[in-house]
Amino acid sequence: MADKARLTVGTEAYDLPLVVGTENERAVDIAQLRAESGLITLDEGYGNTGSCQSRITFIDGERGILRYRGYPIEQLAEHSTFLETAYLIIFGELPNEQQFREFRELISEHMFIHEAMRHHFEGFPPNAPPMAILSAMINTLGCFEPQITGPEDEENFTAAAARIISKVRTIAAASYKKAIGDPIIYPRFDLSYTGNFLHMMFCRPNKLCEPDPLIERALDQIFILHADHEQNCSTSTVRMVASSQANLYASVAAGVCALWGPLHGGANVAVINMLEAIRQSGESVESFVTKVKDKRAHSRLMGFGHRVYKNYDPRAKFLKASTDAVLNKLGIHDPLLDIAVQLESVALRDPYFIERKLYPNVDFYSGIIMRAAGIPLDMFTVLFAIGRMPGWIANWREVHTDPHGRIYRPRQIYTGPTARDYVPMSERR
Ligand code: CMC
Repeated sequence: MADKARLTVGTEAYDLPLVVGTENERAVDIAQLRAESGLITLDEGYGNTGSCQSRITFIDGERGILRYRGYPIEQLAEHSTFLETAYLIIFGELPNEQQFREFRELISEHMFIHEAMRHHFEGFPPNAPPMAILSAMINTLGCFEPQITGPEDEENFTAAAARIISKVRTIAAASYKKAIGDPIIYPRFDLSYTGNFLHMMFCRPNKLCEPDPLIERALDQIFILHADHEQNCSTSTVRMVASSQANLYASVAAGVCALWGPLHGGANVAVINMLEAIRQSGESVESFVTKVKDKRAHSRLMGFGHRVYKNYDPRAKFLKASTDAVLNKLGIHDPLLDIAVQLESVALRDPYFIERKLYPNVDFYSGIIMRAAGIPLDMFTVLFAIGRMPGWIANWREVHTDPHGRIYRPRQIYTGPTARDYVPMSERR
């Protein structure tokens, strides 16, 4: 196999090295292209640009494959727990018993937030978006832990990772409690990671409750399925911020903001709004699908399509099956699930979706499980963020420990006005 690519521009030819990954993905290394030729590459939206080499997550979008550190997502969702998967993603290997026990103890140790931080919640209006609160509070957390800035010290970094993963669920649940005017509930030492989150979300001082093991497992699986997804918008944002040597909290807080948008993590909210609108209007799914194909309508079939997957998103496949199972076991009949299943069936038979290789993505079914678990709609993307924390932390670490690391700084092709002279205001028309 050739180990170089040749680019010919007019009469000049440039040899560019090839880079090959462990799964035989190939890239043309253009790092020296501008120095040698004056040319840059242009790829708006980075659809065909590798921004880094990473050892964390592998996706084969054509075959619908997703693996964390080599382990297939289906096996992890079936057999692992979110905490174990988080350890795998951050540290590269599945933990042995002792490593896991120590990690779990650290998570328990850090489950409380500083009492002073509780007052920060008072500053938000009652209807403040939980993603805004989450991002702001993660940055605030950094103010309370200023010593944890670098990954060089393994012990420090492990503590920082555990702190963020543990506290983010406390912050998320507290923001919900504040929004509904309930007292904030303290975490318990005897519950699992996800059980504790449910406890802090739904219990009250006068209402003791135990998390339903079925819901606990279903949400834990949702966290596992969201735990990393290589260079998506929010992870690239975390890496971008990290490349300036910003600290872990600042970088991860930026990731929360990037995740918020409806084309990214916010799609899980948009899907439920879409399904609800169809239900309330009584519109047929066929007519709705016709509408989303019309570019003038500026609407999309939310929860469908993906930049990388040109096949069924393996996370959506898993979630579709678990949605059925969870709702059945809980004895819930959700009309939105019926609409989702019909939409999927109509879209997957439609030439528009077939030609563009648009399939359900992770957000298509996750919201229906979260609804069944009683999670309020505006918290859906927050749950995505809780799940994605290990991925962001692992990517932050990769950037900070890369011996060849440089600040991320793409170039551009300028298309604005050419040079012109300043005109005093009195002479401007
Ligand atoms: N409904 C209707 N048409 C679509 C959709 C959709 N959901 N997704 C893509 N298309 C069309 C798009 O109009 C374009 O058509 P044409 O070639 O005729 O112009 C073609 O498919 C390619 O789309 P694109 O916008 O160039 O694709 P992209 O890779 O830039 O965008 C996406 C990927 C996920 C943003 C997009 O598919 C989308 O907007 N989907 C709906 C939002 C969504 O579900 N987002 C969650 C993504 S998965 C979880 C996550 O990353 O957070």
